[in-house]
Amino acid sequence: MPLMIKNPPFPVAWITGASTGIGRALALRLAAEGCTVAASARSADALKSLEQEAETLAGRIVAVSLDVTDSAAIEQACARIVADLGVPDLCVLNAGAYIPVDAKCLKAEDFRIQFNLNVMGTVRMLEAVIPGMVERKSGRIAIVASISGYRGLRTASAYGATKAALINMCEALRMELGDAGITVQLVNPGFIKTPLTDKNDFPMPFLMPVDKAVDQFYRGLLTNRFEITFPKRFTWMLKFARLLPYALYLPLLNRSTKAD
Ligand SMILES: NC(=O)c1ccc[n+]([C@@H]2O[C@H](COP(=O)([O-])OP(=O)(O)OC[C@H]3O[C@@H](n4cnc5c(N)ncnc54)[C@H](OP(=O)(O)O)[C@@H]3O)[C@@H](O)[C@H]2O)c1
Repeated sequence: MPLMIKNPPFPVAWITGASTGIGRALALRLAAEGCTVAASARSADALKSLEQEAETLAGRIVAVSLDVTDSAAIEQACARIVADLGVPDLCVLNAGAYIPVDAKCLKAEDFRIQFNLNVMGTVRMLEAVIPGMVERKSGRIAIVASISGYRGLRTASAYGATKAALINMCEALRMELGDAGITVQLVNPGFIKTPLTDKNDFPMPFLMPVDKAVDQFYRGLLTNRFEITFPKRFTWMLKFARLLPYALYLPLLNRSTKAD
């Protein structure tokens, strides 16, 4: 018999990119805290098994398969979630992908795919969820960017640029939507062990297990802090690097990340 939690922090949450990695672990954590979680991604089978995995938890997970590059599908999913569960109290915009780019043979298509998913997928979701929250004068939106959006990094000319766009966008949204009663939070993870980083063949400093990362993500959602980052030691090192002038940053990064 699942434990009942009377006042979950977010009665209704909606997470994109919930079939694997950070989104999946966060959906389970929120359900464990008693929330009803609409879990979205393209893989319907993975979402179904996630729904089943949550059956013993205090809250529940409802699979809502969705491609965030498809505006009509988002509109339909949003209408279904609002009708069945209510306007989400929390929306976590987490769907994203990393395609490494070799600058010497750069392909515009790799940029188009990542901008369409990481940036425009987030923007399409915002277009769908903001009106209900504005009308209700409350809500929380967490946008998952990355520390790779802080400054330029090797192989991340496309991915880093999409995340830098999200960071800038979040700063603007925090101010404007704050006036409408909506809390916007920016989530900047370092390296977290997920299918996304399993593809990397370079050393990943301070690589963090996904459950530990999601614990810090969840705790951040309970605060009104603008930025949620983890693992702290690595993200603070990169925050410091963000303050360096180009004359120091570029030679330093160049030396420390050059392939042998
Ligand atoms: N892992 C890290 O070290 C790290 C660091 C910084 C930032 N991040 C960011 O954290 C977020 C989650 O990454 P992760 O590491 O958990 O990666 P992941 O395990 O690869 O998860 C990516 C999720 O996005 C979904 N997705 C991909 N394309 C989609 C689409 N068109 N429509 C809807 N959903 C889509 C995937 O599901 P389907 O394939 O089933 O659609 C999957 O659920 C991403 O935004 C990533 O950039 C990750």
